[in-house]
Amino acid sequence: MREAMATAEVGDDVFDEDPTLHELQATVAAMFGHEAALFTPSGTMANQLALQLAVPRGDELLCDAAAHVVSDEIGAAAALGGISTRTWPAVGAAVDVAVVESMIRPEGFVAVPTRAVAVEQTHNRGGGGVIPLSTLQDLRSLTDRHGVRLHCDGARIWHAHVADGVPLAEYGALFDTLSVCLSKGLGAPVGSLVVGSAAAIATARRLRKRMGGGMRQAGILAAAGLYALRNNIDRLAEDHARARLLAEAMAPTGVVDPERIRTNILPLDLTKARLDGTRFAAAAREHGILVSVLGPRLVRLVTHLDLTDEGVARAAKILPGLL
Ligand SMILES: Cc1ncc(COP(=O)(O)O)c(C=O)c1O
Repeated sequence: MREAMATAEVGDDVFDEDPTLHELQATVAAMFGHEAALFTPSGTMANQLALQLAVPRGDELLCDAAAHVVSDEIGAAAALGGISTRTWPAVGAAVDVAVVESMIRPEGFVAVPTRAVAVEQTHNRGGGGVIPLSTLQDLRSLTDRHGVRLHCDGARIWHAHVADGVPLAEYGALFDTLSVCLSKGLGAPVGSLVVGSAAAIATARRLRKRMGGGMRQAGILAAAGLYALRNNIDRLAEDHARARLLAEAMAPTGVVDPERIRTNILPLDLTKARLDGTRFAAAAREHGILVSVLGPRLVRLVTHLDLTDEGVARAAKILPGLL
């Protein structure tokens, strides 16, 4: 990847003249069966551009209460897009289409009209859960019936593709826009893309410049992204298997049900454990194992391409002992 970056052909992307970026954007658009894609420095920017495309200022987005777009983007939908958000309760990655339908509000004189629905695939705070294809198809029919846009926060859509075997283009066909990240499971240092129609992406390019996301010789980053797409998608199955292995090792302590672990994220519920999240993470760190603390009694392990079998086996041996 470093070599690909060092030898990348570059141009000025603010003038849309970077050939490596063109290649990355065309590659990702084609993977999802869309007309166009636009590189962004972060998944947050890709999501927020998509939301600004779908929802006029003052109008409404629906998503679940734990969605990254409302929980982890520092209020960007409201602060930058003037977007009103309303959420349904989050239960893992589950989406109850009937609940979503009950929340959609039509245009009128009083109520805030619903313009878009966003889902997250896989779901970060939902423990890496995967939304079944049939649910997404039902959601598409629903949003079509109501004239509402559908966005996918697909930061980890690659993991869903590998876990459920659904072609990326089949996911792509269901959404008006998707955001996808190169910098998480795929291992690139920087970068996400927003994917959509040619017209939407032309507007997104202007909005990206407004948000300070226009970059110059970004082909160096695009080369890393192309390398990641070519080399690091299929191997995600390895990360999923390792997460499952860790879950099985932790299961006797009662903090996780291995059956629920579908991808590379392993939430541990420490409600009944001896240590709370902060103390567990500190104890794990002493053994060189990094754990994210998501709440007083909730932590998250993530498997990724920089791990080794030996390292995972070591974690599987040490972590249950800490509890
Ligand atoms: C589901 C999801 N969407 C979007 C993002 C945002 O990505 P970034 O950190 O690149 O802004 C993240 C980051 O963890 C995420 O988990």
